[in-house]
Amino acid sequence: MKGIILAAGKGTRLYPLTKPVSKPLLPVYDKPMIYYPLTTLIDAKIKDVLVLVPPGEADAFVSLLGDGSQWGISIRYKEQLVPRGIADAFLVGEQFIGSDDVCLALGDNIFYGPVFRAKIAEALQNLDASGGASIFGYHVRNPWEFGVVEINNDGKAISIEEKPVQPKSNYIVPGLYFYDNSVVEKAHNLVPSRRGELEITDINLAYLKEESLWVTRLGQEYTWFDAGNADRLYEAAGSIRMAQRSGRMIGCPERSALSNGWITEEDVERIAGEMAKTSYGRYLAALAKGLA
Ligand code: DAU
Repeated sequence: MKGIILAAGKGTRLYPLTKPVSKPLLPVYDKPMIYYPLTTLIDAKIKDVLVLVPPGEADAFVSLLGDGSQWGISIRYKEQLVPRGIADAFLVGEQFIGSDDVCLALGDNIFYGPVFRAKIAEALQNLDASGGASIFGYHVRNPWEFGVVEINNDGKAISIEEKPVQPKSNYIVPGLYFYDNSVVEKAHNLVPSRRGELEITDINLAYLKEESLWVTRLGQEYTWFDAGNADRLYEAAGSIRMAQRSGRMIGCPERSALSNGWITEEDVERIAGEMAKTSYGRYLAALAKGLA
């Protein structure tokens, strides 16, 4: 399976913060925002990653993430020339996807929880068993701000709508999606929505019509943030700071790569050495010694 991180938005909801720097490079407490979706992809055991970046901004992403070899993965970059919508990721990334299945992670979505890796595995099982699409459902108070899904007892979607005025459920669809290869063809068949975008919800609707849209519920023991505006960015940073007080680290690609067996303790130690003055670096040093 290939992985795409969509990090090409203009970030206008965060102006003036995002005038000089792309949103996914902004800090969320102690690390850049893009570390979180990157860690999610590594947790999904994805080794081949494409980062979609805004025009002219690839260098900043490359200087942060490089070619991915430090985490035992491959990272490539491509510009999305016009922000035509989330589903455009499958058109811009068509060659990269080739004949594989693909996971799309939004660059501003952050997940964490006790066993998020197990939840990802659960979502992937549905895809492996029967193809189609596998998404998540997360219960919120303000569903109208997101994609909203109704789920039946078998874990299948029965309706899905983008930012409905009258939501049919409180389950929203966060920005982590797993698709079989037919997603590329489905993206080709999309027409822009009323807001002029190729909507990810219309992709999901196409799978729903084929009765192959699986939904894994993420319970309240999981935390999810869309850090797309100043309040949510601040909230996400505070929440991660609190969660890390117990000594765990959220959004740590080194730990996920190490636990996948893709890098060694020595690799982690080397990276720790570059950032010895920070709590992140000290965490990595402990991880390399088997103490984290
Ligand atoms: O956060 C989850 C929600 O994300 C879902 O529940 C919705 O169904 C989905 O449509 C999306 O809603 P948003 O309105 O929050 O999406 P937004 O336009 O903010 O785009 C999400 C991220 O993707 C953002 O970081 C910018 C980036 N992006 C967006 C578009 C439209 C791109 O890189 N290129 C694009 O063309």
